[in-house]
Amino acid sequence: MSGFIGLPKDIHKGSLPPGIDRVGEGCKLAASISVYTDLSHKGRGTIELGDHVILMDNVRLVTGDTRVNKEAFIRIGHGVIVNVGCYLSGEGGLVIDDHVLIGPGAKLLSAGHEYSGLPEEISRHGLTYGQIAVGRGAWIGAGAIILEGVTIGKGAIIGAGSVVTKDVASFSIVAGNPARHIKWRNGFGKNSSFYAPILRLLKVIKRLLG
Ligand SMILES: CC(C)(COP(=O)(O)OP(=O)(O)OC[C@H]1O[C@@H](n2cnc3c(N)ncnc32)[C@H](O)[C@@H]1OP(=O)(O)O)[C@@H](O)C(=O)NCCC(=O)NCCS
Repeated sequence: MSGFIGLPKDIHKGSLPPGIDRVGEGCKLAASISVYTDLSHKGRGTIELGDHVILMDNVRLVTGDTRVNKEAFIRIGHGVIVNVGCYLSGEGGLVIDDHVLIGPGAKLLSAGHEYSGLPEEISRHGLTYGQIAVGRGAWIGAGAIILEGVTIGKGAIIGAGSVVTKDVASFSIVAGNPARHIKWRNGFGKNSSFYAPILRLLKVIKRLLG
């Protein structure tokens, strides 16, 4: 026997899981993915996948009650791979650009709960929202949590298990809780731009001149 097991099968456009509005060519979606959305409010809270997207087992896509979550949507670009058990909330809007990798068990949370003042039960407060955007070619490590309102730059890396509370620059590698910049990707980032050697030379000259 040869080949792989444990990968999702091709999805046919005629048999889209309920709640997913559009898929591109060549997508593979596991039968166990689930969608939490409001089917009666078409046009709001759309969930769209580009070409060659892979959603592995037990991925959950959430736009919730789109009568309440008015900014809700999920847009996933081409060639994005979402590993097993991820929770993708688009309640406050979620854009995942092309060729992003999302490791197993990651959670992207674009909504939370209001908590100031009364009533004391959080469940009786409204929601808070903040769109999440993940730039082209970024990699989100296993178990990472991305909080509402965060933008992750293109090509950035989020270490496994990190909790990302602030924007992440393009090509930055961040890790920890709260996630902090640990280094730039080799060949990218602040110290490797076209102008970097010139800037370094200017610094040396400035120092020599006093
Ligand atoms: C972020 C990552 C890519 C960095 O790898 P790396 O370049 O080899 O980094 P290093 O091992 O040199 O680590 C640099 C520093 O960051 C720390 N660090 C690295 N990853 C970390 C993480 N996920 N959380 C907290 N700290 C981390 C290291 O302890 C080290 O700290 P030190 O300088 O105090 O010793 C890697 O650690 C990681 O988290 N990969 C994700 C793996 C994964 O999710 N796989 C699933 C497949 S989709």
